[in-house]
Amino acid sequence: MEESIIIIGSNGQIGTELATALRLKYGEKSVVTSDIRQPNTPSQGPFEIVNVLDKELLQSLFEKYKPTQVYLLAAVLSAVGEQNPKLAWDLNMTGLLNVLDLSVTYRVDKVFWPSSIAVFGPHSPKEETPQYCIMDPSTVYGLSKQAGERWCEYYFNKYGLDVRSIRYPGLISWKAAPGGGTTDYAIHIFHEALSKGTYECFLSAETRLPMLYMEDAIQGTLQLMDAPAENLTIRSSYNLTGLSFTPAELAEAIKVHVPEFSISYSNNDPRQAIADGWPSSINDEYARKDWGWNPQFNLKAMTEEMIKNLKQNLETT
Ligand code: SER
Repeated sequence: MEESIIIIGSNGQIGTELATALRLKYGEKSVVTSDIRQPNTPSQGPFEIVNVLDKELLQSLFEKYKPTQVYLLAAVLSAVGEQNPKLAWDLNMTGLLNVLDLSVTYRVDKVFWPSSIAVFGPHSPKEETPQYCIMDPSTVYGLSKQAGERWCEYYFNKYGLDVRSIRYPGLISWKAAPGGGTTDYAIHIFHEALSKGTYECFLSAETRLPMLYMEDAIQGTLQLMDAPAENLTIRSSYNLTGLSFTPAELAEAIKVHVPEFSISYSNNDPRQAIADGWPSSINDEYARKDWGWNPQFNLKAMTEEMIKNLKQNLETT
């Protein structure tokens, strides 16, 4: 059957790359991208302005395209969320409920919604954090992701909606800018290493966090969406990881390519408290078992790719 895919929030860090991957897989016209403003570069296929909080406008999008798959990526991330908690809650929760409701009404085949490592909190095990454990998120972003996971599972159980989800760790990429998260240092560091040779990190040298290179994240997302429904044992959200490193370790990996690079650390950034409440590594055995998750990029390979691509960008701009 011909797919009709809508990506909501397609201008962001994930959406930009997911749109390209889905268009390659299903054809340019089968994938409708949408966001609250026009993209910076012209869209390769249909694009619509939509605000996920405007249910009527959202409904007109569903009515027009009769989607078979919907990817909801519009969200406020952890660091920005703390500056305006009510807005973050409203956008992240009302946006999700609007999409879940319309997906039931329009009988969408599959819905994708990203969760995050932010669902864990200070009392969750820090190392190899398991799928099921104490979860006491302390950011409004984490609260919204944890509640969102419950809603996804609820819609699956109650309405049979085929919702699929991944708890992304920090995502590292070079194509689009990150959207205001706590893990963003791992992207800023590359840009500044290449443009200035120095970087002041807002997290401490030893703050270890789970991360993933975007290429792996996109592959994983496609893999999960392709998996037979009966193989999926988790309808809240799957733990997922590829890497786990500290700013100091990342700086060392960058020095291999930029020997003069030096890093310093600020010790008064509010993002440190957010990072301190998150896991340092993740156990993703369910994703491996249920749908064959097998990431390709280690710290060395990811660093090489980032440096190579950002250097090319700098040379051509
Ligand atoms: N990268 C996200 C953030 O830092 C985690 O989901 O907010």
